[in-house]
Amino acid sequence: MKLALIGLGSVGRGVAHVVKNDPRFKIVAAADSKSGAVNPDGLDIDRLLQGKKETGRIGTPDWTAFRIAAEVDYDVLVEVTPTNAETGEPALSTIKIALSRGRHVVTSNKGPISLYYRELESLAEENGVALRFEGTVAGAVPIINGIRNGLAGNKVKALFGVLNGTCNYILSRMEEEGLTYVQALAEARDLGYAEADPTYDVNGTDAAIKLVILANTVLGMNVTLKDVQRTGIDRLTPEAIRMAQSTGQTIRLIASLYPEKKDLEVSPRLLPEDDPLVLSETLNAVTVETEYAGDVTFIGRGAGSVETASAILSDLLYIHDKYGF
Ligand SMILES: NC(=O)c1ccc[n+]([C@@H]2O[C@H](COP(=O)([O-])OP(=O)(O)OC[C@H]3O[C@@H](n4cnc5c(N)ncnc54)[C@H](OP(=O)(O)O)[C@@H]3O)[C@@H](O)[C@H]2O)c1
Repeated sequence: MKLALIGLGSVGRGVAHVVKNDPRFKIVAAADSKSGAVNPDGLDIDRLLQGKKETGRIGTPDWTAFRIAAEVDYDVLVEVTPTNAETGEPALSTIKIALSRGRHVVTSNKGPISLYYRELESLAEENGVALRFEGTVAGAVPIINGIRNGLAGNKVKALFGVLNGTCNYILSRMEEEGLTYVQALAEARDLGYAEADPTYDVNGTDAAIKLVILANTVLGMNVTLKDVQRTGIDRLTPEAIRMAQSTGQTIRLIASLYPEKKDLEVSPRLLPEDDPLVLSETLNAVTVETEYAGDVTFIGRGAGSVETASAILSDLLYIHDKYGF
């Protein structure tokens, strides 16, 4: 299966790594923000990654993401560029070009999926191809396919998730070490868990975007970010956490969703310390309350290079098997 890899950052490198020695895949084109490379026989992935490391580029400036999407002969476009939560661009345009040409798309980019899922899904259907996005929510945790396939036929009554690893890290460090919010955030930054500008993480926006994706893609809703009530963790004090602990509870940033009531919220909540959603460090978790299966909780790594690439690999293999490559 011929892949065009758009984005060679953390996730893109992970994808290159997991497909490198798999004979089912060949990366025929790749692009970063400044350059691109194309080889119909398959790019030499080690050379590509080494070149990127040494020069910051992977090829020549004339091969842009748009040009690759529009001109190269590939089967699947793997779109792993940064999330733009306001417009979805430039990923949105790249994805549309690929779908319009009848090419499958796999992405971990939350922007286009949270903003334009229905439009993109229709475009994929019209062109007889797949649009897959397991990596957009909870990294390695197979929550989208887990609900769609594993829990198929079950009505989802409610869903509760820890969907932001940065917030989970901060809260678990405040709880375990008595750190202040500012100290825990600084620690998260030092360890590379928090972005230079962590606003979207700590004010609940990132978790809310993921909740919108789950609502629209697996629960048949039609909501936007504005439908999610949001409260972040930036005003939480060590005293609030100590008070919770004195009653056998703790605080986590929970994204919750009740499909029938169209009730979507992200906010810090009190949870019993033995709740399956109470996890340390950057883990993600989602509990799904279902009609027949009862409560099912998915737990795992919500971010990371090969971890997120694992979600992308599962989408690639779905396409590989379903479309008979
Ligand atoms: N990292 C994770 O653990 C994780 C988990 C789940 C989902 N995601 C999502 O996956 C996506 C990728 O994340 P990441 O962590 O890999 O990001 P990243 O490390 O910042 O890498 C982004 C890559 O995209 C390239 N890029 C930027 N603009 C581009 C453009 N216009 N055309 C072509 N390439 C462009 C960058 O080029 P340069 O190298 O030239 O800068 C870089 O190679 C994001 O949407 C993110 O939200 C990430």
